[in-house]
Amino acid sequence: MAKLTLAVIAAAVLLCSVAAQFPVGTDDDAWLLPDYRRNLIAEAGAAAFQHTSVPCDPDVVGSVAACFNQAIPAIGNIDYKFGAPEVAYPSDGAPWGVHLTGPYPDGRSYLVSWYTGAPTVGSDLTQPDTSSLMAYAAVKADALSTSSAMMGRRMPPPRGHRPPAMWTSRTFTGSVITYLRQYIDANANASYLSPHINHVVLKDLAPSTSYTYQLSDASGKLVGSYKFKTLPLSKDVYPLRVGLIADIGQTVNSSDTRDHLMANMPQVVIMVGDNTYADNYGAQSPDLKNGKGTNQQRWDTYSQLWQPLYSTVPILNCAANHELEMSGIAAVINYTTTSFSFPSNYPFQSYSARFPVPGTTKNFGDITSNLYYSTVIAGRIKLITLNNYVPFHPGTPQYMWAMKEFAAVDRTQTPWLFVQFHAPPYHTYFVHYKEMECFMSIWEDVFYQYGVDLVLNGHVHAYERTHPMYKYKLDNCGPIYITIGDGGNVEGPYRNFVDDVNPATNKTYCEALNYGGLNAVQMLANNTSGWGPSYQLQAHPPNCTTLSFQPASGVSGGAPLVMPPGMMPPAGFCQSSQPVWSAYRDPSFGHGILDLLSDTTARFRWFKNLEGNKVAMDDVTLERLSVCPNRPGAQMPGSRRMRSSA
Ligand SMILES: *[C@@H]1O[C@H](CO)[C@@H](O)[C@H](O)[C@H]1NC(C)=O
Ligand SMILES: *[C@@H]1O[C@H](CO)[C@@H](O)[C@H](O)[C@H]1NC(C)=O
Ligand SMILES: *[C@@H]1O[C@H](CO)[C@@H](O)[C@H](O)[C@H]1NC(C)=O
Ligand SMILES: *[C@@H]1O[C@H](CO)[C@@H](O)[C@H](O)[C@H]1NC(C)=O
Ligand SMILES: *[C@@H]1O[C@H](CO)[C@@H](O)[C@H](O)[C@H]1NC(C)=O
Ligand SMILES: *[C@@H]1O[C@H](CO)[C@@H](O)[C@H](O)[C@H]1NC(C)=O
Ligand SMILES: *[C@@H]1O[C@H](CO)[C@@H](O)[C@H](O)[C@H]1NC(C)=O
Ligand SMILES: [Fe+2]
Repeated sequence: MAKLTLAVIAAAVLLCSVAAQFPVGTDDDAWLLPDYRRNLIAEAGAAAFQHTSVPCDPDVVGSVAACFNQAIPAIGNIDYKFGAPEVAYPSDGAPWGVHLTGPYPDGRSYLVSWYTGAPTVGSDLTQPDTSSLMAYAAVKADALSTSSAMMGRRMPPPRGHRPPAMWTSRTFTGSVITYLRQYIDANANASYLSPHINHVVLKDLAPSTSYTYQLSDASGKLVGSYKFKTLPLSKDVYPLRVGLIADIGQTVNSSDTRDHLMANMPQVVIMVGDNTYADNYGAQSPDLKNGKGTNQQRWDTYSQLWQPLYSTVPILNCAANHELEMSGIAAVINYTTTSFSFPSNYPFQSYSARFPVPGTTKNFGDITSNLYYSTVIAGRIKLITLNNYVPFHPGTPQYMWAMKEFAAVDRTQTPWLFVQFHAPPYHTYFVHYKEMECFMSIWEDVFYQYGVDLVLNGHVHAYERTHPMYKYKLDNCGPIYITIGDGGNVEGPYRNFVDDVNPATNKTYCEALNYGGLNAVQMLANNTSGWGPSYQLQAHPPNCTTLSFQPASGVSGGAPLVMPPGMMPPAGFCQSSQPVWSAYRDPSFGHGILDLLSDTTARFRWFKNLEGNKVAMDDVTLERLSVCPNRPGAQMPGSRRMRSSA
């Protein structure tokens, strides 16, 4: 065991690439500052050599054919019907759809959001003036909370006494907003006015404290009894349990994921985008999938289905493609569009109104300020949430904001650095293969330079974890990429790997990949707009690389597919097997659990719905091994200048 670990360390040092050039305009000596240093995180022991590929199970999706055809509905994977008890909501003014967002960057504040009243569907709707309305939330620390968890310093408990059962409650006030989905097409008579959306910031709560909270109903009366526990802050942080989900939707599989995740008791949940799949439905009916418009009532049902988790554990959400909802309204995104508002241009409307980013204290529902954010979890994890569907190239507001965020990371304060964005750059499924080359041509060096530990993605409805990597090669100085888009949504699990052989043609699926009828080689020759779906290409800057033909990445660094030029994708685009950088892949539903055990150790597990929540299918321990400067010309461990000051 000891020998093995040493071998991993040796390999890690050799694999660290120092040749990369970095586009970021920092001082040449900036890497010498503690903020820029990063102790590399790597898999401990045998996990460093893991190479597991679990194929689609015909019994789960229904047939062998369904294993290779995304268009065949998977068994049992259906949304709850509108009005079903799991998703029904009250219209009598009682709070519903309760969800917590947080922690805020201060580590002590959380947002609670909920709805009152019912939505209205029809034509000629107008938004009511809610500016004079007030939302209220009251919180009360539970008697059994630790003494460090007392309500601020105003009323310290008497020494040696437990706090009284009825501790002082604090009441907070907040905003009431609505949003209007104003369809301009044939669905105009199915326009949608949201229920009252209440947002209240629970400010400056005590860390590691169980709270009971109440919310105002439509008449302003505090009602109900909800519970959640705040995260620790900077001390006594470990062990810390983070739940990971994405692409969750509102099917029976979604509620399985929800229940399994809740049984594993995460303290906070990172939800990597694609919430409701409301855009699978037409505006006219929440049960009719006619692809016309997007059905806003499906946001309401979603909020009810996830309330058991979302009202008890704070969520860190992410804006993704099913949050875009651009059909039937005035909405355009191109590489120059960086501000959005009703009624001229309003993608991400419902998401922004219902799931404000952590840190929001006013202007709830403002779209532009809800597209990306950063926060700090438990004072020790910096989470930077990017949006790959709005402009992200150098010079854009998102890029400039993110550069400041990365540069401000102090690894002595937040030893963990995670990044989330929706579409996965590194995965090996047939659907969405290699669609992130443009994004990564800009961001991968940034992640590498700043020593990001984990990159969290969804979008691909399946599970995959990579080894630490950089530019399609194993590299212990690079991040680990986790694709956790297996939450259970109605579009079904992704079934096949890009390197699977299609039984109908005896060719790999990769060879069948195309956009607009052109495979990768043809697209390159024809100089077309790019590889990927239009909702993703629209934010790309001109001439951004959307195709990559990196060297062979098959098993043992071996054989890529070799095919006649022009006819099929050339060597380096496809692969003949699970590449070495892919540690574990399984096209099934489930969730992830990340246990942070110390500043230097973590355990990540993946739980598959079909196996329940007790046994993890994938289970890996991560440890910091030695210094990894990630800068050209950097000195390796042993140098006095590089020794950690922490
Ligand atoms: C989805 O749920 C159905 C019904 O419980 C089940 O039969 C099916 O196996 C689940 N699918 C996956 C991939 O977990
Ligand atoms: C209104 O609703 C009907 C069906 O209920 C539909 O046929 C029609 O196209 C809709 N749109 C308008 C603009 O009337
Ligand atoms: C981008 O979209 C905006 C509207 O948001 C439009 O005014 C502008 O002309 C578009 N630019 C390009 C290059 O298409
Ligand atoms: C695929 O290969 C198998 C075995 O080599 C052969 O029996 C089968 O006919 C082939 N199918 C097609 C569609 O070429
Ligand atoms: C370019 O695209 C056209 C269709 O748009 C196709 O007919 C032609 O074969 C393509 N050329 C190459 C070299 O792939
Ligand atoms: C691709 O198209 C652009 C503009 O449409 C043109 O300027 C450029 O030369 C083309 N490149 C190739 C390789 O044909
Ligand atoms: C795209 O690349 C082509 C060829 O290199 C160049 O002529 C053109 O100006 C570029 N377009 C933009 C908008 O940068
Ligand atoms: Fe997605």
